[in-house]
Parts: sequence; C-alpha cells; structure tokens
Amino acid sequence: MGTALYDGFIADYYDESPIVRGRVGDVAFYRCGARIWRSGSRIGVRNGADHFGAGGGGASSYGLDISERMLQRCNQKRAKLRTEARERVHLVQGDMTRFDLGEKFRLVIIPFRPMQHLLEIDAQISCLESVRRHLSENGERFGERRGRLILDVFQTDAERMHDPAYQEEGLVAEYSMPDGRRVRIMERVTAFHRAQQRNDVEMIFT
Ligand SMILES: C[S@@+](CC[C@H](N)C(=O)[O-])C[C@H]1O[C@@H](n2cnc3c(N)ncnc32)[C@H](O)[C@@H]1O
Repeated sequence: MGTALYDGFIADYYDESPIVRGRVGDVAFYRCGARIWRSGSRIGVRNGADHFGAGGGGASSYGLDISERMLQRCNQKRAKLRTEARERVHLVQGDMTRFDLGEKFRLVIIPFRPMQHLLEIDAQISCLESVRRHLSENGERFGERRGRLILDVFQTDAERMHDPAYQEEGLVAEYSMPDGRRVRIMERVTAFHRAQQRNDVEMIFT
C-alpha cells in the first residue's frame, strides 16, 4: 500500500494534515535523540524539513523513502536550507526492507509509523535486519556505543480490530490547504483480519 498511496496524491496535502501537524513533540524527541547519538539516518521522509535538524551540528543525514513524490516534497524543503546544511542531507529512494546506504550510523529513526506499512512479518524482520547492518558497532568509527534505532508505531484501539461500528464511515480529519482547498478524510473498515491483527480500511478523500 505504501508506494501507491503516497505517490498517488497524499504527499501533496500530507504536511497540512492535523494528524501530521499535531506531531510536533516527535521532532523535539528526535532532535534530542540525535544530540545524544550525534549522527543520524532516517527512513520515511517527512514532507516538512522538520527532521533535517535531527542530524545535529555538522552531522550528515540520509532520508530514505520508497515514494518519489514524498521525496520530491522533502527535496523542496531541503532546497530552502542554507548550502552547508543542505549538503549534509541526502535523500534516497529505496525500500526500507532492503537498503544499503554504504554507511554506518549512530542513530536510525523510523518516524511516524512507516513500519506499519510492512504487513508481513518477513518484511518487518528484513527491515530491522537492514537497519541493524547500518548501525555502528561498539568502538567502530564513533568510539564508544552501539548505534540506536528509534522506531515509532501507533498502538491501535483494540475495539477497532473487531467492532462492526468501525465499518460505518467515520470522519478522520477535515482541514484547509494554504491555497484554500478543503480536504475531508473519511474511513471505514472493509474487512477484519483478526489472526493477522490487521484490518482493510477504505479511506475516502474529498
Ligand atoms: C505515515 S508516512 C510517514 C512519513 C514520514 N516518516 C513522517 O515522519 O512524516 C509513511 C511513509 O513510509 C513510506 N514507506 C512505505 N513503505 C515503505 C517502504 N517499503 N520503504 C520505504 N518507505 C516506505 C511512505 O512512502 C511514507 O512516506
């Protein structure tokens, strides 16, 4: 679902979504993590350049995402950075389940739930293995500690996993774009897959 969804059109209004905008605390948290671990890499780029600061003073960052359109949006934000900061940010199109950036990092961030696009356990494990290959070892390049992964997933409401009430259309968000367009997002569960702990959800964008 990841690529088609974000390459389709979501990237264009993603930044303005109250769901995304409401996550300001995340940025402070990642910045703090980056200050502690100093050099950053991240998976799944935010349309905003918010996370760019996460690389910390002088450290380089890689942003990896599978969606070309999300990367384009991120690149527009990067273009507004000062030259020195801009040159430290590298954007890469790739699959988080198998990537090779040819570098090791003290910190890898998977911000705002990209892991939950990986519906199969094999893909989740493969992603974690790719991350692990990119984490610095004890004593390697950076000296003391092993690199860290900060992984963000949302914990779903248990009712949502089985309650037929969620098969009715419900409002997720309604907001305005800077150009005045109104965006309305509705969703409903079309199928429960209880054994796999996931649902099929239809989202309706107006
Ligand atoms: C909810 S968005 C989060 C975007 C961004 N990380 C943020 O903090 O705003 C999920 C992102 O995961 C990306 N994605 C989905 N599957 C992916 C995969 N297999 N490899 C890399 N990125 C993927 C999507 O293209 C999308 O940009």
